[in-house]
Amino acid sequence: MKKTLTGLKPSGELTLGSLIGAIKQMKDYQEDYDSYLFVPDLHAITVPQDPKELKERIRKNVGLYLACGIDPKRNTIYLQSENLYHANLSWVLECTTYMGEASRMTQYKDKTSKGENVSVGLFTYPILMAADIILYDADYVPVGIDQKQHVELARDIATRFNNKYGNTFKIPEPLIPKTGAKIMDLQAPTKKMSKSADNYKGTILLLDPPETAKKKIMSAVTDSDNLVKYDPINKPGISNLLTIYSSLKEIPITEVEKHFQDYNYGSLKKEVAEVVATTLTTIQKKYQEIINSNIINEVLDAGREKTTKLAEAKLKEVYHKIGLER
Ligand code: TYM
Repeated sequence: MKKTLTGLKPSGELTLGSLIGAIKQMKDYQEDYDSYLFVPDLHAITVPQDPKELKERIRKNVGLYLACGIDPKRNTIYLQSENLYHANLSWVLECTTYMGEASRMTQYKDKTSKGENVSVGLFTYPILMAADIILYDADYVPVGIDQKQHVELARDIATRFNNKYGNTFKIPEPLIPKTGAKIMDLQAPTKKMSKSADNYKGTILLLDPPETAKKKIMSAVTDSDNLVKYDPINKPGISNLLTIYSSLKEIPITEVEKHFQDYNYGSLKKEVAEVVATTLTTIQKKYQEIINSNIINEVLDAGREKTTKLAEAKLKEVYHKIGLER
């Protein structure tokens, strides 16, 4: 059975973008693939974190995975930090990655171009991500469009290693959703909806009270021509709302466009807001049942045990090939 693998950083609260870009894909594919969904908590510390908040968010992430419909029987769920082999393989891969390739990663470039004082970890972060993926020979990596470049780097790193040392790693492919590869900020619809956004009105958190989420949709920035059309370049705000609706209702965007063609923006927003609120209500109801139960620990224990064995074997093979043995 082919493997899918992905992770969502607990560096902020999970958003509607996290759901549509990554979690929903994992849920939709879970029947057909051997699925690995982990918490990249080591990635979260590439930027400063409050220890208490980080700990809470790690647990919240797992609770939300399950509440969003990720079936623990079909998914291996684990914490990156509980499996020491991720960081270990990452070191080996760092030594086979060129400065030039790592410097081309757009997320890193964006942060440094703003003059932010970034950590070395933020620079090497895509290499740890490559380790996360190729450690388990994942075939597919369901991600939003912003992570595509990182998966491509993982492909390059794996290919180079295989060429030099013989076939060791599977070459992973990114899986980008047809609809919702980049959900936009509601207040600045040319920017990605992000868990670290400055304007909280632009981002819908999966744990936002449904009424708050509705208000955020109602005050989403659009344009003034009152014409419903899917045109992400010229009408990013309306196109974003149509995308959200299309993804959550699982209706193709062309049909969504038709459905709303005679609506004014106010009534369109109202209907999108309803769908978002219903989605959040369902997730939050399950989340409340899960978050204080023991299921999170059970799932993570099983995930740690299974992935540690797999990762240990892979790292041994790598060490053997590169001559790290006595
Ligand atoms: P992260 O935590 O920034 O985002 C998690 C996933 O959610 C997707 N996503 C979005 N998709 C559509 N619209 C949005 N507004 C939106 N916001 C977030 C992201 O594309 C991503 O798929 N480096 C990764 C975490 C990671 C990882 C991995 C992923 C670490 N190791 C191995 C896959 C495989 C990250 O920072 O994603």
